Amino acid sequence: MATEAAGRQYQMVVLGASGFTGQYVVEEVARLLDGEEFKGPGLRWAVAGRSREKLEDVLRRAADRMAKPQLKSDVGVIICDVNDPPSLAEMCKKASVVLDCVGPYRFFGEPVVKACVENGAHFLDISGEPQFLEGMYLKYDSLAAEKGVYIVGSTGFDSIPADMGVLFTRNSLKGTLTAVESFLSFKSGPSGISLHDGTWQSAVYGVADQGNLKNLRKQLAYKRLPVIGRKLKRRGPVFYSNEVKKYAVLFPGSDASVVRRTQRYLHEHLQETPVQYSAYAAIGGLGSVITLMIAGFFFFLFSKLSCGRKLLIKYPKFFSFGYFSAEGPTQKQMDEASFSMTFFGEGYSEGQDPQQGKPNLKICTQVSGPEVAYVSTPIAMVQAAATILKEPESLPKRGGVFTPGAAFSKTKLIERLDKAGINFTVISKSDA
Ligand SMILES: NC(=O)c1ccc[n+]([C@@H]2O[C@H](COP(=O)([O-])OP(=O)(O)OC[C@H]3O[C@@H](n4cnc5c(N)ncnc54)[C@H](OP(=O)(O)O)[C@@H]3O)[C@@H](O)[C@H]2O)c1
Repeated sequence: MATEAAGRQYQMVVLGASGFTGQYVVEEVARLLDGEEFKGPGLRWAVAGRSREKLEDVLRRAADRMAKPQLKSDVGVIICDVNDPPSLAEMCKKASVVLDCVGPYRFFGEPVVKACVENGAHFLDISGEPQFLEGMYLKYDSLAAEKGVYIVGSTGFDSIPADMGVLFTRNSLKGTLTAVESFLSFKSGPSGISLHDGTWQSAVYGVADQGNLKNLRKQLAYKRLPVIGRKLKRRGPVFYSNEVKKYAVLFPGSDASVVRRTQRYLHEHLQETPVQYSAYAAIGGLGSVITLMIAGFFFFLFSKLSCGRKLLIKYPKFFSFGYFSAEGPTQKQMDEASFSMTFFGEGYSEGQDPQQGKPNLKICTQVSGPEVAYVSTPIAMVQAAATILKEPESLPKRGGVFTPGAAFSKTKLIERLDKAGINFTVISKSDA
């Protein structure tokens, strides 16, 4: 789809580049220039935010860390504030794709989406907040379609591995995939694991606001997706998984809701068979489960109370047992960390009716990659942006508000991610 956004002063603008995540998104964009696709034509890009000093500092640090002195002179700087709509409009008019790293999105995201839609710029976020993501769909899908812009939410670790992982599993099966369960595992090295408190804040406010998500879904009035094939069994909140040989819990992030929205889109718009999906996190032994349950209970309780929220936001390190902090992880912690998401799917071979009898195909696939929040997330977001720029003919025919799978199911995003370090592999396939 040819859009107004093509041919603007900057092909990519990283908004919130001075943030903990934003700085790594900047480095990931700079890394694009080493690849064949951008080496020749280059890339016109800019960083945006409310402090010139901080933005220039981010470029200086990236230039030094990456030994790319040209970053100090070749990258534009745009001053804008999410609370100042004219400044956002000016930024959007200069951009083909805005990579928005300003969160929590429930507080800061909508003005950017609105400005992008009104000024014809494509938009990507790294939100893991279903209420924001689905709220933007409710409010801006029609307008974005009218304007021919793509508003693509959750293009970070939430929820590209899960969403594209289900599509990869489906595409790897010779037959009809009808159901998938995924199990997420994190690995850390001797220096442990930690995240910046920007993500902690998004989680605290997300739990606090769960009631509004229910109301929003009533307004969205999603139609029930047909269940094709054997119904996926519901597991308890904690169970021992024979698949991964560990205790597992229902994964509380945005993955399940994002994947289901993708499946709805692909079914309703492209008449594809919807895949049933559940997302779990593999925890380990019983001791880890008990610790997690106790921590989760207090986190939930405190998030629901205004004074509890204040405490959680003020003392992230204390309440998260050191897992979240204002300083974020060290480079060593990030270098040592990784994730894997394993997908167990079942389906029906070609020619067999999925509505009759038991599934006769099984498949196991895996998406794996480096540290989730500040290495894999920037890779996923930047590769999504590159896909919008380089594969316009493979994107949906109309603009709108999309999940990653809905926007990118016909593109080469999986190949791009694979090359950039987030790997998709088939572990096994067999007749059931
Ligand atoms: N999906 C994932 O897996 C994933 C991974 C990592 C992060 N995230 C999400 O990304 C978001 C950012 O996290 P973070 O840890 O990077 O947070 P952060 O370090 O606090 O960064 C926030 C950024 O937003 C900017 N900002 C704040 N208010 C602004 C305003 N009024 N106008 C313009 N810019 C403004 C800040 O600019 P200043 O420097 O001027 O203050 C900063 O650049 C969070 O929502 C987090 O949940 C998601």
